Amino acid sequence: MDRKKVLVYRGLPAQELERVRAEHDVIEADPRQEAQEQAFFEALPFVHGLIGSGYRIDDSLLARAPLLKVISTISVGIDHFALDAMKKRGVTLCHTPGVLTEAVADLTFALILGTSRRVLELGRYVQQGRWRRSITAAQYGWDVHGKTLGILGYGRIGKAVARRAALGFGMPVLYYTRSAVDSGLPEGKACPASLNDVLAQSDFLVVMLPLTEATRGMIGPAQLAMMKPEAILINAARGPVVQEDALLDALDHGRLRAAGLDVFDTEPLPADSPLRDHPSVLALPHAGSATHETRAAMAHMAVDNLLCVLRGDTPPAAYPLDKAD
Ligand code: DGY
Repeated sequence: MDRKKVLVYRGLPAQELERVRAEHDVIEADPRQEAQEQAFFEALPFVHGLIGSGYRIDDSLLARAPLLKVISTISVGIDHFALDAMKKRGVTLCHTPGVLTEAVADLTFALILGTSRRVLELGRYVQQGRWRRSITAAQYGWDVHGKTLGILGYGRIGKAVARRAALGFGMPVLYYTRSAVDSGLPEGKACPASLNDVLAQSDFLVVMLPLTEATRGMIGPAQLAMMKPEAILINAARGPVVQEDALLDALDHGRLRAAGLDVFDTEPLPADSPLRDHPSVLALPHAGSATHETRAAMAHMAVDNLLCVLRGDTPPAAYPLDKAD
């Protein structure tokens, strides 16, 4: 078989790296690490495949890689790729849908429970040795079970969150999605609704939308103003879907109870971000899919995708660039 050159731009588990090495010549270089940046750019003119995640790949970078056939991202999200440019240059984009659905839905629920039951704050209270008598109403949280959960974006992960909410926590679910989809739940457990109704009626609002030009900044001052002041906003999708300044303003002025955030405008969260130690924010380091099992499954699928395209076979999950908006 014709060996090709593959550039690995984010660490792969050893056994996955070996699978790539068995068929192709591998160059490992992460452009985010100063010591490897030059090697990454020097390799581009010779590579047929790229595999990695979380690095912005734009048209100017693609122009430096004229032999490139495939980019296999170890993520389901594809917002950091210039889709038009990839289409124009005939580069196949593959991603990892499905294998991270349940893990991201679990973490979304951790944010729901963590914010409403004040888990971080109460845990610190014990850790710091301040628990000397029964806690008082000032430290109580709020019920999760039975509350209304709104979901913006009802794809695989949105549905997995809805299942947990409706079947595990007895929560009525409302969801907003641009195209009509089946709720995936028994009759009456989850209902489609307009964006305004989801905003106005939810006790927990879960943002599960992909980042596109249509969703960037979609939740801003006007949308936050429609929410109940005791509502909690959870974003485990992409930071820029929610306008961070507007969210901070709503939290600071008591127009929202709390926010559970796994994603941000800038990641890692800058040292001076007010979200870092805001008393009403539970912030996590984009950890939605970060379990040993799920990250291993994502890496495996990404390698399957890469090898299939380089062999000339149909990969398990090519992103449909034709449908990109
Ligand atoms: C994805 O796969 O897009 C997730 O955001 C990574 O955890």
